[in-house]
Amino acid sequence: MSEPSGPTGPVTPPSEPRPRRVRVHHLREAKERGERITMLTAYDAPTAQIFDEVGTDVLLVGDSLGDNFYGYASTIPVTVDEMIHHGRAVAGAVRRALVVVDLPFGSYEASPQQAHATAARVMKETGATAVKFEGGRRVAEHVKLLVSSGIPVMGHLGFTPQSENVFGGKRVQGRGTDAAERLSEDALALQEAGAFAVVLEMVPAPLAARITEILAVPTIGIGAGPACDGQVLVWPDMAGLSSWTPRFAKTYGRLREELLSAARAYNDEVRAGTFPDDAHSFTE
Ligand code: KIV
Repeated sequence: MSEPSGPTGPVTPPSEPRPRRVRVHHLREAKERGERITMLTAYDAPTAQIFDEVGTDVLLVGDSLGDNFYGYASTIPVTVDEMIHHGRAVAGAVRRALVVVDLPFGSYEASPQQAHATAARVMKETGATAVKFEGGRRVAEHVKLLVSSGIPVMGHLGFTPQSENVFGGKRVQGRGTDAAERLSEDALALQEAGAFAVVLEMVPAPLAARITEILAVPTIGIGAGPACDGQVLVWPDMAGLSSWTPRFAKTYGRLREELLSAARAYNDEVRAGTFPDDAHSFTE
């Protein structure tokens, strides 16, 4: 997505050092112009700053921080307090990107009112611009209440990790005519309820392309093929920090190897007594 622009032309004139914030309507405008949207997860201030600096459009404080930051086996144990803790760090670090915070398992499903209470707390305490939660028609009323209360909502369909135990593992969703039809109806229901974008996770590429075509709001794919209006990756997968990455995730760096080698070199020098040397000591 190019720099968001307003009715008066480019929004970041050369003399203006602060870039214009990405707002939810910019994503829809990007779809209309056929410009792809970039989204990455972020869980802390330093990485959020880096991803923001290179122009990533959306930073998602995903509940994937459960497995990628806290070392939990899944996203299920993640709490609202944890999401707020990390959401505040990310939202406070960015200048341009739109920051979206996930509502974790157990904090919104029971009723629109429960979703509103959690989302309002997340918005107040993090400074994020929007929330995301999983589900289609079953959460349409939740989306409606939040959007009418001033809280932008990103939807999430396909393989929704919080339902991993119902799906029986990390499985592609929407295979077969009936499942594809249900997923399309869920996507339309989220749009109708006011969601500003919909994440499609682990969905066959032709189905993701069809949903992208029938929706006016952008789709953001993860394991959903190239036709989506944008793409998202979990950042440790993208940067090569994870020890294992799913087949659909492309690795653009070798952070794990870099860290292994840096930590090895540090240990070696400390053990050999070559660090700290004079250059890294106060000699008087
Ligand atoms: O929590 C997360 O990181 C997500 C992405 C996989 C979309 O929901």
